[in-house]
Amino acid sequence: MAETVALIVAAGRGERAGGAIPKQYRKLAGKPVLRWAIEAFERCTAIDNVRVVIQPADEALYRTAIAGLRLRPFILGGATRQESVRRGLEALVARTPDHVLIHDAARPFVSTALVERVIGGLDNAEGVLPVLPVADTLRRKEGAKFEIVPRDGLWRAQTPQGFHFDKILAAHRKFVGEPATDDIQLAERLGLSIASVTGEETNFKLTTENDFLLAERLAGSGLSDVRTGTGFDVHRFAPGDHVWLCGVKIRHDFGLEGHSDADAGLHALTDAILGAIGAGDIGVHFPPTDERWKGAPSHRFLEYAAKLVREIGGVISHVDVTLICERPKIMPYRQDMRARMAEILGIDIMRVSVKATTTEGLGFTGRREGIAAQAVATIRLPT
Ligand code: CTP
Ligand code: MG
Repeated sequence: MAETVALIVAAGRGERAGGAIPKQYRKLAGKPVLRWAIEAFERCTAIDNVRVVIQPADEALYRTAIAGLRLRPFILGGATRQESVRRGLEALVARTPDHVLIHDAARPFVSTALVERVIGGLDNAEGVLPVLPVADTLRRKEGAKFEIVPRDGLWRAQTPQGFHFDKILAAHRKFVGEPATDDIQLAERLGLSIASVTGEETNFKLTTENDFLLAERLAGSGLSDVRTGTGFDVHRFAPGDHVWLCGVKIRHDFGLEGHSDADAGLHALTDAILGAIGAGDIGVHFPPTDERWKGAPSHRFLEYAAKLVREIGGVISHVDVTLICERPKIMPYRQDMRARMAEILGIDIMRVSVKATTTEGLGFTGRREGIAAQAVATIRLPT
């Protein structure tokens, strides 16, 4: 199989869209535009790697937007789209892929089907362009009049545009500083063979403020299959001086016994997420008999569950964890726990809840023999 990298350019300033931050970092249904685009490519099995080109000034926004995703390092872009792409391609030279798909971060709704069409086109051409016909009547303003422009033969170009890596790199190296608004134009200048495939109406580029209204509706409406999952976990106290709970290390007179780090909070939550997508439980994916998970930090289990949700195009709407113990006191750590779980899941802290209760001295938690945790996860899947 040819190695294929998706190169997402996200180094623009989004001036036409306005807003307090560049458009690729604004949220749609609670998720940054750029993240929508990254996840769209991560879902495609034919894509081996996703690389993102950003502006140095946006690094903090970028890190927040990709929290919980495992990506290779970002690449720094330039003053024009073309320069950003060129820098992206140069950064890929060290591990040269066979094919590259170059995509605008501002097109969050690219589908797996379109990505596969573009990749398929590379069997017979050195460059592949997704296009759509123009439906509206076009007119050119001449003075006070609007004159008809014949529509035949006019097409709208989209991204991702696919290329044989060495060919598009050569084109970008040759035409540095000779402006082009997309990469196919440079490929044509170099005389590469170009094929076209059908684009998608939903793969529009967010350009103006108005586009965000449409995008927000699209982002929300496609995810109306709401699922709920629950999880429960118990760990016994053992000699030690700290416990891990909801991803936070807490000094304590005891530790917790378990094959991994025994974080009952994260285990219950991992099970809740797996439950919501019908993907079994934590023991199925990380068997306690497997030496690999001995002493493992539990954020890896939770990251994995979140990745499964992304792979089927879902979003985590909300999670709620209840810790049941007499000691340690949870209250002082509640905010840190919410922040850490939000970070692991890559969602807003407002979507993460942590509660705690005692059992009034009753039962095993009352006798301080161990800690129990329960969790609920609400997930939205594509319909
Ligand atoms: N882009 C880039 N580097 C630049 C300019 C643009 O990586 N110097 C990226 C944008 O982030 C976007 C894509 O190229 O994902 C398409 O560009 P466009 O829609 O024009 O975005 P902006 O340049 O950000 O917007 P504007 O032109 O309105 O400022
Ligand atoms: Mg621009």
